[in-house]
Amino acid sequence: LCRFAARTCLVTMGASSSSHDYSLVSTFTAPTNIALIKYWGKRDLEKNTPINSSISLTLNQGDLCTTTTVVLRHDFAADKLWLNGKEKVDFLTSRQFKRHRALLALVRARATSRYVGQGEGRHLVPAEELRKCRVHIVSVNNFPTGAGMASSAAGLAALTLALADVYGVHDAFPGELTTFARQGSGSATRSLAGGLVEWKMGAALDGHDSIGVQAFSEAHWPELCLVVAVVSDKEKKVSSAEGMTRGLGTSDLLRHRASVSVPRRLEALRAAYAAKDFPTLARLTMEDSNSFHATCQDTYPPVAYMDDASRWIVDMVHKLNGELDGEGGSASASAKASASKAASGIIAAYTFDAGPNAHIITTRKHLKLVLAALLAHFPAAKQAPAAASVGGGGSGGAAAAGSAPGPLIVGCAALEELGEDASTRAATLLAGAQELCATLPPVQGRERYEGRLAKVFVTSVGGSPIKLPATAAIASATSGEPLALVPM
Ligand code: PMV
Repeated sequence: LCRFAARTCLVTMGASSSSHDYSLVSTFTAPTNIALIKYWGKRDLEKNTPINSSISLTLNQGDLCTTTTVVLRHDFAADKLWLNGKEKVDFLTSRQFKRHRALLALVRARATSRYVGQGEGRHLVPAEELRKCRVHIVSVNNFPTGAGMASSAAGLAALTLALADVYGVHDAFPGELTTFARQGSGSATRSLAGGLVEWKMGAALDGHDSIGVQAFSEAHWPELCLVVAVVSDKEKKVSSAEGMTRGLGTSDLLRHRASVSVPRRLEALRAAYAAKDFPTLARLTMEDSNSFHATCQDTYPPVAYMDDASRWIVDMVHKLNGELDGEGGSASASAKASASKAASGIIAAYTFDAGPNAHIITTRKHLKLVLAALLAHFPAAKQAPAAASVGGGGSGGAAAAGSAPGPLIVGCAALEELGEDASTRAATLLAGAQELCATLPPVQGRERYEGRLAKVFVTSVGGSPIKLPATAAIASATSGEPLALVPM
């Protein structure tokens, strides 16, 4: 974790070699993560420490990621931010960016003196001078922002690392950079490492032991796959911070979840992951997602992040697992019988963050079936859906064939067995899923969901953030502005 801390910063000299003319530029990509056991509730609002530990899978950056360039220049007048190609003119004043500013202040305060330039122009810039320099931040997501897809986790993780890089800040203790990322967004604490990552809640008042730690590397369980079903790319109405504050003030269930249910599930989940026990991992994941959304319902006034399409996916997964009958209606047997049947038949798990989009976890063996079930439950729109433009998808994609447009499948970076490049892989997967879908029994009530599934990301468990070379910067080293219009 945080191996970047030891890296040398990228230093770019400006046009003049005067000792006052320099740019420091750093670019990182960072992954999103999906919590299997969720963080919900703040212990200390200012330090952004949680009331419970949480654990997540890091997603493959080949499929979903944030890219952030930070440019620090001696002559910038103010800190500025561009998100997905648009300047956020209220960056310095808006509540929305309070946490970004807190992170920036924290890293800036820790700046260390450093050399810039090369050859004769090489000179030391004292820390006090660096602290006075303003930064321009240019950040791009290749997936919907603010729709419960952990865009804040990826964004704040990339920002933490790029800022630390330009200001010459290194871990003073293992995991310190994750405590900085935490100031930006709680879930970002878990986006600085790959694989299965735990955010340990910690106990210290100053929050120094509330850190992200890798539990298992991405190499531990390569058969795992994730399918992100985008049923809405709209930003959520109630922010996670607001939802948590409201919940802590009003929900007894939330406190019970944090103190009793989560510790028990975390222990069981670590063991299931170590043993690659998919049915247990899946069951714990679904239970925790349901418990989190139940606390949102128990909040006063209640907060609803899932919608009808989300609940349709919940039923779909339980049917796939043999826990509900084919009509998606009542449980097919008694709860006990269903639980024991499920233990062997569980092939997929859903989990929902603070938004309606589903993350479905499965294995490579069952990936095609999960996609076929999605196609069976979400008929194509008769006309191109408005939401079909969501995301850019870094790696090509494939749309359902035929006259009616179906969901766009994007991703598959790690699924090399499906073809040479991303779009071939997506097309192969989609064709296979369509073929299988045609053999599945018809799904009653599916008309309601026509066109609701606009995009599907197929991905895998991925690695830690990546530092990109100077040539990959998305901001100009001199103006600090976006280099090109950023696709979204
Ligand atoms: O990191 P935040 O403040 O956006 O909160 C994220 C909360 C959940 O995504 C719902 C759960 C989690 O642990 O990621």
